[in-house]
Amino acid sequence: MKLLIIGGTRFLGRHIAEQALQRGHRLTLLHRGRSGPGLFPQADHRLADRDGDLAALAQGEWDAAIDTSAYVPRQVRALAAALGSRVAHYQLVSSISVYASFDRAGTDENGATAVLPDPSVETVTGETYGGLKALCEQAAMWAFAGRCLVNRPGLLVGPHDPTGRFTWWVQRLQRGGTVLAPGRPDTPVQFIDARDAAAWMLLQAEQHTTGTFNLTGPAQALTMGHFLETGRQTLNPAATLQWVDEQFLLDQGVAPWSDLPVWLPTAQANLHTVNIARALATGLQCRPLQDTLRDTADWADQQASASPRGPDTNGPARPAVGLAPEREATLLATAPQG
Ligand SMILES: NC(=O)c1ccc[n+]([C@@H]2O[C@H](COP(=O)([O-])OP(=O)(O)OC[C@H]3O[C@@H](n4cnc5c(N)ncnc54)[C@H](OP(=O)(O)O)[C@@H]3O)[C@@H](O)[C@H]2O)c1
Repeated sequence: MKLLIIGGTRFLGRHIAEQALQRGHRLTLLHRGRSGPGLFPQADHRLADRDGDLAALAQGEWDAAIDTSAYVPRQVRALAAALGSRVAHYQLVSSISVYASFDRAGTDENGATAVLPDPSVETVTGETYGGLKALCEQAAMWAFAGRCLVNRPGLLVGPHDPTGRFTWWVQRLQRGGTVLAPGRPDTPVQFIDARDAAAWMLLQAEQHTTGTFNLTGPAQALTMGHFLETGRQTLNPAATLQWVDEQFLLDQGVAPWSDLPVWLPTAQANLHTVNIARALATGLQCRPLQDTLRDTADWADQQASASPRGPDTNGPARPAVGLAPEREATLLATAPQG
C-alpha cells in the first residue's frame, strides 16, 4: 500500500514508519525535517510545516494516511483540503484525553468528549489539549467522511519516548535501593507500548477500518503493584519497593503523573481503566510488559551513552519528570510506616 504519515520521525510515528517499511509499504512522510534527521532514507520525504503551505503534498495518491501530529482542527481541515480525494483512508491519532470526565471506570468510545469554552483557542496546554483533540476528531469525521478512523491512545511508552515518563521508572528501578512506590499496589494502571499501537494502526490502515477506538493496554488489567514488581524483577531484583500512603504524598506536594510519572491517585485512577474491547476485537496485541521494560532500558542506555543530555535528544526540551533522589529519600524517611 502507499502510505502517507503526517509526522513519522519521532516516537509513535517513527514506529509506524519502521513497521510500514518492514511490511513492504511505500512510504511518504510529511514533516519539517527537524526531528530524527536522516531517518528512513528509503521513504519519500515531503518537507513542509503543516501550519503553512501544503504544496509539498500537491502530487501523489495514497491508499491511507496516518496523522500523528494534528493538535488543532484547522490543521485537519487544511490537510483534507490539500489532499482532496487523493487519499482513500485517513486515520487521526487523537487521545483518551478527549473524554470530558473519568467519573466512572471503564470509559468506552461512547463517553462524552470535552467541550472547550472557546473553540477558537489554538494554544495547546494541559487544559485545552483534550478539547482540541475532540475538535480535531470532529473535523476529521466531517472532512474525511466515510473513510476516517479516529484512534484514542492512552499513555504511549517504550523506546524513543521523548516524554521520559515510563523511562523514569525504568531508570529508577535500575538505580536500585529502596524505591518509593506510590499509593496502593491495587491501583489500576494502563499504558501501551507505542510499537503495539503502531502495529494496530497499520493493520487498520491496511483494512480501511472506520470508526472510533480507544487504544491502550495491556489486554489484561494491570495494577501499579504488578507494574512495579514486574519492573523490579525484570530490571533489578536487588531493588526493594516501599509503598507510601497516597494522602501523605499529596500532602507533601508530590504531583501525580509528573513527580511520579504514570501514577494517578485513587480519585483519578479511572483514567487508567479505559475500555479497549473494540481495539482488542480488531487485532490489538500487546507484547509482554517485560519486553517493553527491557527494550526501554536498552534504548535509554544507548541514548545516555550517545549524548550527555540523555533520552529525548531529538525533540524539544521537555519539563523534567520524576522525583529527584534527595526528595525521594526524604519522603521515604518521613512517610508513615505501615
Ligand atoms: N505520548 C503519549 O503518551 C500520547 C498519548 C496519547 C496520544 N498521543 C498522541 O500521539 C501523537 C504522538 O506523536 P509522536 O510525536 O509520537 O509522533 P511522530 O510522528 O513520531 O512525531 C511527530 C512528527 O510530527 C512532525 N511535525 C511536528 N510538527 C509539525 C508541523 N508543524 N509540520 C509538519 N510536521 C510536523 C515531526 O517532525 P518535524 O519536527 O521534523 O517537523 C515528527 O515527525 C500525538 O498526536 C499525540 O497527541 C500521545
